[in-house]
Amino acid sequence: MAAETPSGEDVAGGSTDVADTGGDVETGTGGRLERFSSVQVFVHATLAVSIFVLYLTGLPMTFADQLGWLFSVFTYGNIVLIHVAVGVVFVLVGTYYLLYLAVGMLLERRSIPALPTLDDVREAVAYLGYLLGRNEKPPSKKYSWLQKAEIWVLAVELVVLSATGLLLWYRGIFVSPEFRAILGADAALADTLLLFVRDVHVVIALTMLMGISFHLYMVNVKERYPFNETMFSGDVSAGRAAHHWEEWADAELEAPPETDHTPRPSKRTLVGVTLALLAFFAVVLTATLLASILSPLPSREYLLALPADPTGAANVVFLVGLNAAVLVILAGAAAIVYGMSVRLRGGYDE
Ligand code: HEM
Repeated sequence: MAAETPSGEDVAGGSTDVADTGGDVETGTGGRLERFSSVQVFVHATLAVSIFVLYLTGLPMTFADQLGWLFSVFTYGNIVLIHVAVGVVFVLVGTYYLLYLAVGMLLERRSIPALPTLDDVREAVAYLGYLLGRNEKPPSKKYSWLQKAEIWVLAVELVVLSATGLLLWYRGIFVSPEFRAILGADAALADTLLLFVRDVHVVIALTMLMGISFHLYMVNVKERYPFNETMFSGDVSAGRAAHHWEEWADAELEAPPETDHTPRPSKRTLVGVTLALLAFFAVVLTATLLASILSPLPSREYLLALPADPTGAANVVFLVGLNAAVLVILAGAAAIVYGMSVRLRGGYDE
């Protein structure tokens, strides 16, 4: 299945004339570099599968009309139960990883290369110049400015989802006499706060769908087409490292590798996938507006009287768009399970 494609330009930069290789093995020279520790590989896989399950169980709660078949298969009670149980697993694994980072930093003096720095701002500005054809592509450290932006946007969204999810789980707080007393016995305010928490949970969950699909697109289409195995093997070929993260590769390698050969999609595939991604963003944004921001929730019924449920052609778009999202989520979960099973069977060992 090996395939080679001469690589003369930046994958992330967008313009490429290279034909579909159909291959899935890169052939960079100079061996392989470790990019992620085993802990990072397992934490990433657990969090990713948890997130996919949280979507599979959360989306039908918001879009019962379009995804009600999931209730028919699993029942409403089980869907909520799985959501909360996996939510707790997610919070525990996330907390474990934060402790792992803190211990590594404080006791073992390990740095955290994903932390943002001023250099990232400079790289982003230079990257803009590169896109405008004014300068060369700026070299990246272990993570490019765009990867750091992705990581931090997703991290903040996940923290907000965890906090609001836990509040929804313990929603009894909002009706407790103690909490109401703090609010000056204003029962309406307590109800509004609960609805606000629920709205934030839904809006962030929906908009994060765009972040996750962008992440999958960057990793599997732009960076390493059609399936990026780095998050399972934990390493990367020196050639690809030098291509995407030049400064990091230079620091890690004694001699820079000659070249990189990374399979990438043809122009037609790239345009097709990019358009599908943009169409998906449009559906997500409209769904978020209708399902949460503009919907006549109890918290907003005095303000707006827009129909929450799309009708006619819009409903068909929603039906297709949301069920397509479910398919992508299932495919994502299957890909993670596949990649991790290959790793556990020693498929990525030297
Ligand atoms: C990637 C992370 C998550 C996503 C995408 C997500 C998504 C959702 C969605 C879409 C809903 C439906 C809200 C509605 O329309 O009423 C929901 C409800 C809920 N979520 Fe999450 N969620 C996530 C994480 C969590 C976490 C970490 C917890 C914590 C345990 C949690 C607990 C809950 C609870 C308790 C509900 C309400 C269930 C009910 O109606 O009884 N969620 N979530």
